[in-house]
Amino acid sequence: MIELRRITEENFEKCISLSLKEEQSKYIASNAYSLSQAYAIQNDGINFPMPYAVYKNNEMIGFIMAEYQPIDSSDPDDDEDIYYLSRLMIDKRYQGNGYGKVAMNKMVELVKTYPFGKAEAFILCVSKENEIAYALYKSIGFIDTGNIDDDGDQICRLDI
Ligand SMILES: CC(C)(COP(=O)(O)OP(=O)(O)OC[C@H]1O[C@@H](n2cnc3c(N)ncnc32)[C@H](O)[C@@H]1OP(=O)(O)O)[C@@H](O)C(=O)NCCC(=O)NCCS
Repeated sequence: MIELRRITEENFEKCISLSLKEEQSKYIASNAYSLSQAYAIQNDGINFPMPYAVYKNNEMIGFIMAEYQPIDSSDPDDDEDIYYLSRLMIDKRYQGNGYGKVAMNKMVELVKTYPFGKAEAFILCVSKENEIAYALYKSIGFIDTGNIDDDGDQICRLDI
């Protein structure tokens, strides 16, 4: 059974120790960076981080993080309350077994409960070169908007 569990004092070191195939590291920040970022932004009133460890039974196999981003009134281009997927990784030992897809579906279910507030969409950015991730997101209903972000990644959207 795959489930998302909160990051705690008991499991954060395990989360930091998870690893990817060497060629995948360019697609995602390290888990140590992501947990530091989640800590740093938690009280900024702009981003509301939702970092979770992915477990298969009692074994941690991955990490997933979303953020609630309500409209920033100081940004004239920001006109939508959204949830944003900032990270998804499955440790290299456990990839290719469907776990990433289940974990992502669990995050979609969670986001649809609007844990931090109402939103219109779940957004993510992914490099088209990252074929596995791109296919995964499409297979669960994300639409490639055709727009790209500052890093040249495709902006994908799921209405929620
Ligand atoms: C992306 C990632 C999380 C996928 O995790 P995973 O558990 O290996 O993926 P899954 O086994 O659940 O596969 C899910 C989907 O990916 C696609 N996929 C899997 N292997 C694939 C391959 N070799 N080629 C193309 N697509 C593939 C399929 O669409 C599959 O869905 P399907 O079961 O309907 O065919 C994992 O590869 C990873 O951690 N990558 C490095 C970090 C990263 O790039 N994160 C995304 C940043 S945007």
